[in-house]
Amino acid sequence: MATNAGVLALEAAPAQRQARATAIADADDRVLAPAADRAARPVLALTDIALKFGGVAALRDVDLEVAPGEIRAVIGPNGAGKSSLLNVISGLYRPDRGRVWLGERAFTQVPTVHLAAHGVARTFQNLAIFKGLSVFDNVLMGLAHRVRAGFLRQIIGSPLARRIEAENRAAAEDVIGFLHLRDVRERAAGTLPYGLQKRVELARALVSRPMLLLLDEPFAGVTLSEKRELSEHVRNARDSYGATIVLIEHDIAVVLGLSDRVAVLDNGRKIADATPDEVRSDQAVIDAYLGVAHQDVMELAV
Ligand SMILES: Nc1ncnc2c1ncn2[C@@H]1O[C@H](COP(=O)(O)OP(=O)(O)OP(=O)(O)O)[C@@H](O)[C@H]1O
Ligand SMILES: [Mg+2]
Repeated sequence: MATNAGVLALEAAPAQRQARATAIADADDRVLAPAADRAARPVLALTDIALKFGGVAALRDVDLEVAPGEIRAVIGPNGAGKSSLLNVISGLYRPDRGRVWLGERAFTQVPTVHLAAHGVARTFQNLAIFKGLSVFDNVLMGLAHRVRAGFLRQIIGSPLARRIEAENRAAAEDVIGFLHLRDVRERAAGTLPYGLQKRVELARALVSRPMLLLLDEPFAGVTLSEKRELSEHVRNARDSYGATIVLIEHDIAVVLGLSDRVAVLDNGRKIADATPDEVRSDQAVIDAYLGVAHQDVMELAV
C-alpha cells in the first residue's frame, strides 16, 4: 500500500533490517511464482503450524490460505486454538513449527512490533482500548507506528511533522465517520456502551487501512442490535476499505451470514475448511462443534 511504503521509508533502517532478519523472505523469494502471478497470491498463508504449551497442543499441523478480499471465519469450541492461531499470525506467539506468509514474505515468527508496517491490524478477544482517552485519540493510536518516537522528536515543529499530523488526523476523522462515531468522538472511550467500545477498537485497527484485519470475537458480549451493526461494519471494512478479514466468532448465525469461507478448528486441528453452506452440513463439524445447537443454527442462518 502506498501509505505503508511511506511508513517504511520513514522508519529507521536498522528497524527494517531487524524485521527482515526474522523474515526468511530472501530464501523463499527465489521459489516464488513470477511477478505477474503474485497478484493471485493469498494475503495470508499458514503452512504446517504447530504450537504447544507444555503438554497442551494448541495448534496441530494447521494450514490456512486467505485470498485477497475474503472474509474468512475461524470457528471452533472453547480452547480449540482460535486465539492461538491469531496470536501466531500477529507474532505474539512463535509457533514450534511452520511458516506464516504475509503476501510474498514468510516468517517463522511475525515481528509483532512491525505488524502495522506489514499491513496487518488486529482487535483482541478481551477489548483493548485506552479507556481514559477520547475516541478520537484512541483511533489516532492506530497510526502510532507510522513515525518512530525518536524521529518525531527530531522533526517536531517542522513542516514534515505538521504534515504527518494533519494526514493522521484526516485518516482518523475518515474512519470515525465511516464507523458512525462522530457523535462520541470527544468522549472518553471507557464511558461508552460496550458495543461502541468494540467499534472504537475496530476503528483503531482500520485507521491504518490494513491489508489484513484480524478480529478476535468482535461481537462477543454485545447486544443483538449492536451485533447487527458491527456485522455490517465488518462487511463494509472489506468492501470500502479493501481489507481482507480473518474473523473469529462463536455466533454461528453471524459467521455463516458474513463469511466467504469458514475454517473449523477442534482441539488444535483444522477439521474443515469450506463455504458456509458446506460447513453447515459437514458431519465432522456438527459432531465437534455445532452439536445439539445445529438445528438452531439452521434456523438462524437460513
Ligand atoms: N499463553 C498460553 N499459555 C498456556 N496455554 C495457553 C496459552 N494460550 C492458549 N493456551 C491453551 O491453548 C489452547 C487453545 O487456546 P485458545 O485460547 O487458542 O482457544 P480459543 O479457541 O481461542 O478458545 P476460546 O473460544 O475460549 O477463546 C487451550 O488449551 C489454552 O488453554
Ligand atoms: Mg479465543
